[in-house]
Amino acid sequence: MKFIKFKTEAEAVKHVAEIIVKKIHAKPSLALGLATGSTPIKLYQTLVDDYKHHTISKQATDWSHVKTFNLDEYVGVDYNSEISYHKFMADNLFDKVNINKHNTFFPEDHSFDSLISKQGGVDLQILGIGTNGHIGFNEPGSKADSLTRVVELVPNTIAVNAKKFFNGDINAVPKTAISMGLASILKSKEIILLAFEDAKTDAISKLKKAKSFDPSFPASILTQHPNVTIIFDSSVKVDA
Ligand code: F6R
Repeated sequence: MKFIKFKTEAEAVKHVAEIIVKKIHAKPSLALGLATGSTPIKLYQTLVDDYKHHTISKQATDWSHVKTFNLDEYVGVDYNSEISYHKFMADNLFDKVNINKHNTFFPEDHSFDSLISKQGGVDLQILGIGTNGHIGFNEPGSKADSLTRVVELVPNTIAVNAKKFFNGDINAVPKTAISMGLASILKSKEIILLAFEDAKTDAISKLKKAKSFDPSFPASILTQHPNVTIIFDSSVKVDA
């Protein structure tokens, strides 16, 4: 695992957006694994700016053949509702670039892993991290061989998401989600995990110390992958 620290989130996301844009130019049918939540919002904005104003690449970036696979979605939500991750992705990225919606995939059932394989696998997976070390919604206790499945969110995740996205209303947060598993994530050819909040300091510090997989800290599965980069900014109090 490589750890790269940037002074600001803007610098960090520019670096990641450059990687993504370069990859799309080199392989127009790039398969991206995508996360939702607060962490990737600025990255998506930067990619949209590049699409509209060529801020990263001098030539237009064509998203029409790009394929995307989202990590997770709440169970039982209307995909058009404000709380759904389908809507989050539409609002933050998909409706703002020329992606073909037929190439954007979300987990709906356990067939998601074979769908990803049939599409050729994920080239680059973008991840956030929970304060409890979850990636996707693979909460502590998740198994190393877990695939896409329905998961129960733990009280910490419900509380954090309530504060960030539901005006503090714990009752409004769905309690179950469907999430790619740890083994699903590990199949990706390359992984970039992002963290831009002081609240992620403990998780990133633990990840840096991790030597092997510990189910109580799911992100430690990344120690088992050969091409992982952790990108964070100075709000995370960890040295690179
Ligand atoms: C979201 C996801 C989660 C988030 C994590 C961090 O698709 O898979 O693992 O990345 O909960 O969330 P934020 O970015 O809101 O701090």
